[in-house]
Amino acid sequence: MNNVNDTAAVKYARVPTQHTYNDDVFPQIVVNNDNCKTVADTVEFVKANQAELEAQLAKAGALLFRGFPIDSAETFDVFSAGFGYPNFTYQESLSNAVRINFTERVFTANEAPKDVEIFLHHEMAQTPISPSKLFFFCQYAADEGGATPLCRSDKLFEALKAENPELARDFKEKGLKYTTTMPAANDANSGQGRSWKSTLSVESVEEAEAKLQELGYSWQWMDDGSLKAITPVLPAVIELDDGSETFYNQLIAAYMGWKGVRENPSSAITFGDDSAIPKEGLERVAELSEDFTFDLEWQDGDVAIVDNYRAMHGRRPYSGDRKRVVLVALVASER
Ligand SMILES: [Fe+2]
Repeated sequence: MNNVNDTAAVKYARVPTQHTYNDDVFPQIVVNNDNCKTVADTVEFVKANQAELEAQLAKAGALLFRGFPIDSAETFDVFSAGFGYPNFTYQESLSNAVRINFTERVFTANEAPKDVEIFLHHEMAQTPISPSKLFFFCQYAADEGGATPLCRSDKLFEALKAENPELARDFKEKGLKYTTTMPAANDANSGQGRSWKSTLSVESVEEAEAKLQELGYSWQWMDDGSLKAITPVLPAVIELDDGSETFYNQLIAAYMGWKGVRENPSSAITFGDDSAIPKEGLERVAELSEDFTFDLEWQDGDVAIVDNYRAMHGRRPYSGDRKRVVLVALVASER
């Protein structure tokens, strides 16, 4: 890792695997200028340079902070709170993943088993309520593997438009509907094992139905007590402030990772008009995404901020005795 720009308040670094788009890097890497000895110093540094850091994040889609004194859920809470963004709690989210809260703001990233790959997605883009930014904190990196792949969705959609304008137009104009099945009880062994009671923050069938109605879902109760829910039409593509379009959806994760979807995509996702999404199209999108993906190889103490609209994230499988601990704090949308 080489340091660049040594005299400025904000010090950046380069790694060989970083992507470059025109003059911009992805992700941008901020390193300690040696003045941040404590988390309080770090928050002061953030506040003093927030405009520059936010401009970098807006351009890059992801910022990595390396070498700062952040070493626990508590210091991560203080660091992420230092930006002053509105908190997005796990409880109020409709996330399908089972997670554990450490502080009001901080919880575990997906608890799925270490050999399970979590494929690229925008956090909660398959629900009507999603966070605008994600903070990740690596308390302990895995012995081997466990990177967080980050993918530039705006570049991916640009590539798709160039290669298959009809399909790109269908995504943009029709939007998507997602079908998910929420189990009767939490299943920690699944990447999406959160029960319907927990997902919807309800206690009874009546409350669940009222909540689904309010969110515009349709639903069906299954014999085993699980709940099959279909979203209202959600966007597949959104336009960002700078005019770029981003592939803001859950298609890759669903196609690559949701049970049975690769065989029959329309069991889980359709276009907004209920028509089927061509399987070859999904296959190709998943392939194309690899060109725009950077693997964030965690070091202990790293913190990343990901613009949830511009960049997707996932989790590579990992191995070894060391327990990988990556914590998350989410920022509510102001859109
Ligand atoms: Fe995620």
